[in-house]
Amino acid sequence: MKLTRRQWLHLCYAVPGAGLAGRWALQAAEGTPPANMIIRSARPEDFEMPLEGFLHWLTPTDRFFVRTHLYRPKVDAAVWRLRVEGEVRTPLTLDMAALRQLPRVELVSVLECAGNGRGFYRPTVPGAQWRYGAVGNARWAGVRLADVLRKAGLKAGAKQVLLNGADVPMGAVPDFQRTVEISKAVHPDTLLAFEMNGAPLPESHGFPLRLVVPGWAGDSWVKWVTNIQVLDRDFDGFFMKTAYRRPPHPVEPGTAVDPAKMQPVTGIRPKSVIATPLDGQHVGPGAVTLRGAAWAGEAPLARVDVSTDNGRTWRPARLGADRARYGWRLWEAEWNPPPAGSYVLMARATDTAGEIQPLAQDWNPSGYLWNVVQQVRVTVGQGAAVAAPAESLPTFPPEVKASCVGCHGEDMMAGQRLTRAQWERELDKMTRWGASVKPADRPAILDFLAGHFGPR
Ligand code: HEC
Repeated sequence: MKLTRRQWLHLCYAVPGAGLAGRWALQAAEGTPPANMIIRSARPEDFEMPLEGFLHWLTPTDRFFVRTHLYRPKVDAAVWRLRVEGEVRTPLTLDMAALRQLPRVELVSVLECAGNGRGFYRPTVPGAQWRYGAVGNARWAGVRLADVLRKAGLKAGAKQVLLNGADVPMGAVPDFQRTVEISKAVHPDTLLAFEMNGAPLPESHGFPLRLVVPGWAGDSWVKWVTNIQVLDRDFDGFFMKTAYRRPPHPVEPGTAVDPAKMQPVTGIRPKSVIATPLDGQHVGPGAVTLRGAAWAGEAPLARVDVSTDNGRTWRPARLGADRARYGWRLWEAEWNPPPAGSYVLMARATDTAGEIQPLAQDWNPSGYLWNVVQQVRVTVGQGAAVAAPAESLPTFPPEVKASCVGCHGEDMMAGQRLTRAQWERELDKMTRWGASVKPADRPAILDFLAGHFGPR
């Protein structure tokens, strides 16, 4: 196999894919971001796992993707308490020792960000432009949320469980609070976890306690949990009523949809990622092994099939021996490429409910739950690999810096590919959240953002 320098770096976690964003990461206030991750935003922390991660059954914690809405709080375990209140007979205040008296439960589960793959939607949508790696597979340990709720005594009217963490919003940014329907909250696999991969949860992953909701997207896996409130009604906070919603039926790509007509994101979908070979790679001559990982949501993964002929024919991949109800499976398939030519490699996952990965996008306004079959184009035979041109970041003019750099860095904007109209909406949203934009500066800010970070 011949790899370009860029591809080697990708495989070795040095990730020039971080390119643009990575350079700005050094200015982060929260310390130097990990060198082996793709930095989508240094602060708040949005880090993506490179493709190489799909070759490991359990994702090492320091390779595990990080998604943060606000800043990462520093929680002092000695004073930390968990409050349980609302529609319960006995409100509780538990410290870690009291929590650990409940039965300990361990499970392996995939955690996938609702926005994983957002960067592939066309037309483009705002938000972290995740590609493949806003997902990982870890061993979680903690106690059942059901046991905590039983201890408090659920009242008959309990409908939703609202979770809040120790993270605090900046400016007028809404607090990150999420609810889980009571049926999922009391499911025996829904945990309040204090360990990840056999060690206490690291700060970036929610120390000292996070919710684990196997089969559901990361937006429900609330970190740094301090408050659990049982509600007898639907919660109407920003991150339930406006964000993290998808249309129940297909919509015309690019259309605006009223959040009230959308539904909250819950379960993740079957998905497979090819870790090797890499897109653009020269392979062969001789046998080539395709490798990757595949997973599903509440219905377990049933099979993975691969195609090396543009999807005309499919054959089963071999699934790895390591498995868990909600974990991902490694897979591999041998391919004996014809002597020369250009080929598209694909892998697609099917779950036990019969849901199969689609070949075309079902576009939605915020770009959630992308699971379109990945296409990896390789060339068989000799040839010089063409290195991708290095990305360069423009200099941000003073008025953009003054209005837009502070809560987050330039990387948050540089990662986007938005039309002028979409940039206008981002400006409005950020102004509502506390950005001060002088009316006289607005056109210049828009010119700069739309000019440099428009759709390509
Ligand atoms: C008061 C703090 C604050 C200021 C000032 C601010 N932002 Fe943001 N912005 C945020 C936060 C917080 C997020 C991340 C939200 C998340 O991850 O859920 C964000 C995210 C974004 C995103 C990603 C897409 C999205 O909507 O989440 C873009 C683009 C963006 N900001 C652009 C801007 C621009 C342009 C300006 C200057 C006009 C600006 N921001 C100023 C707080 C701010």
